[in-house]
Amino acid sequence: MKHIAVFASGSGSNAEAIIRYFENHTHIRVALVVSNNPLAPVVKMAHQHRIISAIVSKNFFEDEARMSALLQSQQIGFIALAGFLQLIPEWLVKKFPNQIVNIHPALLPKFGGKGMYGKKVHEAVLAAGETESGMTIHYVNAQYDEGEIIAQQKVQIAANENAESLAQKVLQLEHEHYPKAIERLLM
Ligand code: GAR
Repeated sequence: MKHIAVFASGSGSNAEAIIRYFENHTHIRVALVVSNNPLAPVVKMAHQHRIISAIVSKNFFEDEARMSALLQSQQIGFIALAGFLQLIPEWLVKKFPNQIVNIHPALLPKFGGKGMYGKKVHEAVLAAGETESGMTIHYVNAQYDEGEIIAQQKVQIAANENAESLAQKVLQLEHEHYPKAIERLLM
C-alpha cells in the first residue's frame, strides 16, 4: 500500500476529492493531512474521514528532523499539495524527488509564482483579458509553481465571468483530474 500525505491550508475541497477517491483503493491510501492553519476547514474534514491530521507551525515544517519524523511515522512516500500556502523547503524536495505534486488554478507558466493563490489567480487571469484558463498539475521544486508540468485542463472564460464563477469552474476540473493524475503517477 502506498501512503500519501495531502498538505492543505484552506477549505480543502481538493484534499477531500483525493481522500474520497482513494477511500477504498487497493494500492493507495491517504494516511496523513498536514496543515499550517489550525482553523482551516480541511482539518475538520480530515477528522470526519478519520484521516490523521497534523497542524504544523512554520518552524516545525521547515525543521528536517521533526517533519521527517512526522512523515515517517505514517510511512509517507508521496505528497500532494492542495491549496498549501507555504513554500516547500529544499530538503523536502530532495527527500521526495518527483514525489511531490501541486495543483494550480491556472495554465502555468502564466499566472503563477509567489502570492498567486486562489482568488488572486482568477482575478489576474480576468484582468489580463484571457479567453481561457484552467488547471495545472506539476511536480514541486523549491520555487513556487515552477516544477515540470504533468497535466493541464482548460476551461473557456465566458463574457460575464467573474473570479468566483471562474474559481468554481476550475475547482470542478481540479476535483475530477487531480486524484486520477495522482493515481496514474503511483500505479
Ligand atoms: C485550488 O483552486 C488550488 O488550485 C489553489 O487553491 C485552491 C484550493 O482550494 N492553489 C493555488 O492557488 C496554489 N498556488 P481547496 O482548498 O478547496 O482545495
